[in-house]
Amino acid sequence: MDRIRIIGGNKLHGTIPISGAKNAALPLMIAALLTDETLILDNVPRLADVALLQRILGNHGVDIMAAGKRPGDHEYQGQTLHISAKNIIDTTAPYELVSKMRASFWVVAPLLARMHEAKVSLPGGCAIGTRPVDLLIMALEKLGAEISIDGGYVIAKAPGGLKGATIEFPKVTVSGTHVALMAATLAKGSTIISNAACEPEITDVADCLNKMGARITGAGTPRILIEGVDKLHGARHTVLPDRIETGTYAMAVAMTGGEVQLSGARPELLQAALDVLSQAGVSITPNNDGIKVARNGAGISPVTVTTAPFPGFPTDLQAQLMALMTRAKGASHITETIFENRFMHVQELARFGAKIALDGETATIDGVAKLRGAPVMATDLRASVSLVIAALAAEGETMVNRIYHLDRGFERLEEKLSACGATIERISG
Ligand code: EPZ
Repeated sequence: MDRIRIIGGNKLHGTIPISGAKNAALPLMIAALLTDETLILDNVPRLADVALLQRILGNHGVDIMAAGKRPGDHEYQGQTLHISAKNIIDTTAPYELVSKMRASFWVVAPLLARMHEAKVSLPGGCAIGTRPVDLLIMALEKLGAEISIDGGYVIAKAPGGLKGATIEFPKVTVSGTHVALMAATLAKGSTIISNAACEPEITDVADCLNKMGARITGAGTPRILIEGVDKLHGARHTVLPDRIETGTYAMAVAMTGGEVQLSGARPELLQAALDVLSQAGVSITPNNDGIKVARNGAGISPVTVTTAPFPGFPTDLQAQLMALMTRAKGASHITETIFENRFMHVQELARFGAKIALDGETATIDGVAKLRGAPVMATDLRASVSLVIAALAAEGETMVNRIYHLDRGFERLEEKLSACGATIERISG
């Protein structure tokens, strides 16, 4: 299994190109199941999760062609996928595939909307909490689906097609909103989703669906209105930049000191996180090409942060912020409200000498003057990258084990960081 070796202590200087967002690319690829014409997606990141979803879609009969690089393409340019779900040959998504990636459960929505049936394995447990799918099932039932659960599979049927409805989510859910949105595009009549998630990835998917002929208004607000249409067609869409990757590298620069241009980043996608970094004493300058992040001389000030749905501080940056605050001049408080078990990184950060106390949903981090490198490993994607951030500022060597989590969500992490002066290498095998 690959590992990453980091020698800490170098400041970061240079430019980091920001890739397309994983959490938009995945539902966009799934949305291709809604049409028998080709959906072309540009700026798709080269990630293990994207490759796995290609296999999962392939199992339904979807053809995917990845275009190669063209002369003049930037070395970091994302890939272009041509996705054609002309013939759906199988409406079952098996346990072996769905259990590897939760988001693949979302295929239930387009399969049901277009084929009027789907049999999809329940995704099962997950390192960051129980993560049920009850609200996704509720949304599909509201749209007229008959749903039963048998042998670990959700069996969904809508013999006469789905029908528009009012879906009110009792709590904000990104997965629930994606599923309701995709399913409602082909339902008869109009659908209202209230208390919808407002995450930029939802808006990106809605924009793409509208290019495919859907009639969606209000995406990006808590009330989304969808007028169902009979058919969707092919389209071309560019995946928006990854706000979590952007925030992660901003925190890495804040941690090490130095100055880095995050090229292609869009500040409005992560304003809450940028505000927290400014509060911590980091200089954040939006410009034409993205965001410049710098920390020169001064130390890191402690902060108090609570995670919340967009536009609040994202749970997907909580672990990275915690790593940063291990070096703050004083005590920080971080409260996690989205997932109940998303503190797996706390024990691992302690291996660097960090002082973190957990009390229910809140972590109190007492900043220390120095971190020391250590062998570490993590059980989820964002937790893993928080260890990389700590290692970049720690004295001596860190070995990050089990990095397949990182490969799921960060494209060329070690290349991007070493180009800015970090001593970081992948050790294969
Ligand atoms: C998405 O997960 C992201 N994944 C997550 O990113 C992200 O952390 C999360 O949204 C919150 O922003 C993708 O986009 C692929 P939810 P999702 O439905 O959609 C509860 C990463 O590292 N809930 O908004 O699964 C749930 O348990 C990842 O890239 C129910 O109770 O999150 C949680 O407490 C990890 N019943 C809360 O809602 C349901 O039926 C929010 O979950 C569904 C969700």
